[in-house]
Amino acid sequence: MNWTTAALCASLSVGLIACGGGEKKAETQSSTAAKKEAAPSVDVAAAKKLMQDKLCLTCHSLDGSTEINGAPALGPTLKGIYGTQTTVVVNGAEVTHKVDDNYLRKSINEPMAEIKKGYNPVMAPLPMTPAEVDLVIAYIKTL
Ligand code: HEC
Repeated sequence: MNWTTAALCASLSVGLIACGGGEKKAETQSSTAAKKEAAPSVDVAAAKKLMQDKLCLTCHSLDGSTEINGAPALGPTLKGIYGTQTTVVVNGAEVTHKVDDNYLRKSINEPMAEIKKGYNPVMAPLPMTPAEVDLVIAYIKTL
């Protein structure tokens, strides 16, 4: 194992690639292989921490609960919403459409554009990078 492989192994906390074991010579492809394997899985810990830091979890539960710390949650749970139909109010008119990536991105980036029926328009836009929004969306899909 050369130092590059060692460093790569050390930096991969999830152990996506087997390090140290059978001496497969010159694993030059290891970084691309690791990336490919990592793509579909979500870094749950990072996503949860981000959502805690951005205050999402003060209003949204992730487990279907309508309460947070014993008080009614201001926002709907984010569990199981992906792929369902949702009814939102846009400029006073009700619109029903699917919860997909675009809807989630819009809900997060422009929370006032479409207000989920039955809820108050209290969600403020929380500054996040596109990569952070992608992480949150990927995580919501797993809930
Ligand atoms: C102050 C409370 C509050 C905070 C903080 C908050 N939200 Fe919301 N969120 C709401 C409310 C209320 C709604 C429903 C009304 C609406 O559509 O704006 C909502 C709606 C949503 C929806 C649409 C859900 C659906 O079923 O249609 C998503 C997705 C969402 N929020 C994600 C987030 C994320 C991600 C964060 C953190 C970056 C966050 N929210 C922070 C209150 C909040």
